[in-house]
Amino acid sequence: MTHPGRTSTLALALAASACLAAEPAPDGTAFPPGFLWGTATAAHQVEGGNDRNQWWDFEQVPGNIKHGDKSGAACDHWNLYPQDLDLGRAIGMGAYRFSVEWSRIEAEDGTFDAAAIARYRAMAEACRARGIVPMVTLFHFSIPRWAAAQGGFLNPAVVERFGRFARVMARHLGDLVDLWCTINEPTVYMAAGYLAGVHPPGEADTKLAVPLMKNLMKAHGAAYRALREADLADADGDGAPTRIGFAHHMRVFQAWDRFDPLDHAMVHAIDRVMNKAWLDVLSRGWTAFVLPGSRLTVRIDEPELAGTMDYLGLNYYSRDLIDFDPSQPGSFARRLPEGAPVTDLGWEIHPRGLYDLLLRVKRYRLPVYITENGLADAAGTRRAAFLHDHLAWIAAAIAEGVDVRGYFHWSLLDNFEWADGFEPRFGLYAVDFATQARTLTAGGAYFGAVAGANRLEPLPGQVAAPGLPSQP
Ligand code: BGC
Repeated sequence: MTHPGRTSTLALALAASACLAAEPAPDGTAFPPGFLWGTATAAHQVEGGNDRNQWWDFEQVPGNIKHGDKSGAACDHWNLYPQDLDLGRAIGMGAYRFSVEWSRIEAEDGTFDAAAIARYRAMAEACRARGIVPMVTLFHFSIPRWAAAQGGFLNPAVVERFGRFARVMARHLGDLVDLWCTINEPTVYMAAGYLAGVHPPGEADTKLAVPLMKNLMKAHGAAYRALREADLADADGDGAPTRIGFAHHMRVFQAWDRFDPLDHAMVHAIDRVMNKAWLDVLSRGWTAFVLPGSRLTVRIDEPELAGTMDYLGLNYYSRDLIDFDPSQPGSFARRLPEGAPVTDLGWEIHPRGLYDLLLRVKRYRLPVYITENGLADAAGTRRAAFLHDHLAWIAAAIAEGVDVRGYFHWSLLDNFEWADGFEPRFGLYAVDFATQARTLTAGGAYFGAVAGANRLEPLPGQVAAPGLPSQP
């Protein structure tokens, strides 16, 4: 409920003391040797010409995408990838997370396209030739049209097909790739496509959530096993032919009114399903939660999935303050703290949240990669400070013993931002979509300074002020 008037002096004092408990790392702090400075993209958002998947079809329906945008040629990364990798290299990019487009590789059920596979091999080779470590994502929101027609991940047969696809990729890329990411943001895939209905298949039906979640988990397991069995080549000679994980979208959820037990109860429920459930199942094989907005207790038991994360991939963007709405049982609003800095998409910029999440996942005792972090900033005036402040909190978490091995900024290039079309600008390089010209942003230059030095650099024009972030 919204009770801003109830905020008391005691609450403010408690909040202030909580904030004092940790500090971001000061400028000059070194990152561990070998820390990976990377960027991330996804096939459908950058390649162009992906006309055989369910997203392409969704884009053709008026009203689905802002301004009626269509992914079309996107960044033409399918053809321009060598130049884009050069641009990445020019700003110290030592790792590149990209996805392979299932609908190009297997345009028909069971028929694999040798030319498409060869192109992805060429991409991975181009990374290696430039000293860039490739991290390959198998599923980043887009699935072949035929798989969507079979029911997508709601159909157990598609789950099994995904394992087959993973095996093919392991066979063809295994000697070049060790770092694999099975699924990108399964909770977002579920929430956007099956609860909010703003991504394909455009469903808004809570009954679909749990079956979908279980099947996505099984799909991860099938891919994990396939990659382990079929990729036996150790590409970088570190003794491990595969390091397999998934990219988990984690958010900070907090009560809008810290004195409202209903806000807290809702925060707890949302946090369990969005942040915790996947980590539970992939670490210990089971989870239990109450589905937010219902009385339904869900238990997922998948003992064979225990231990199917070699690393934890963390995508971090923002925080939500949850305001329970008693007039409509089970519903809630996501709010921003008053006066909070926001991105062009209205997402709160809350760098400290990344530190809180990193300390929270420390208990899994896994290496962590920040597999995505970034902001929509068309003017290009906030990206450098955003980077600085998030990196300062990552460095603080590393100082507290969290084994963070790398940071992948979302994104190398401006790209097709799903239902928001081309308007949001997430790139370290800005893209002119009419000419395909790329231009380095101030944030990109700052990324280059940090990656080159492997330490937290002061912001240009900023007098180094250790411990004082430029944003809260
Ligand atoms: C997704 C990306 C997306 C980014 C910014 C993540 O949820 O993995 O595909 O572009 O956030 O919205």
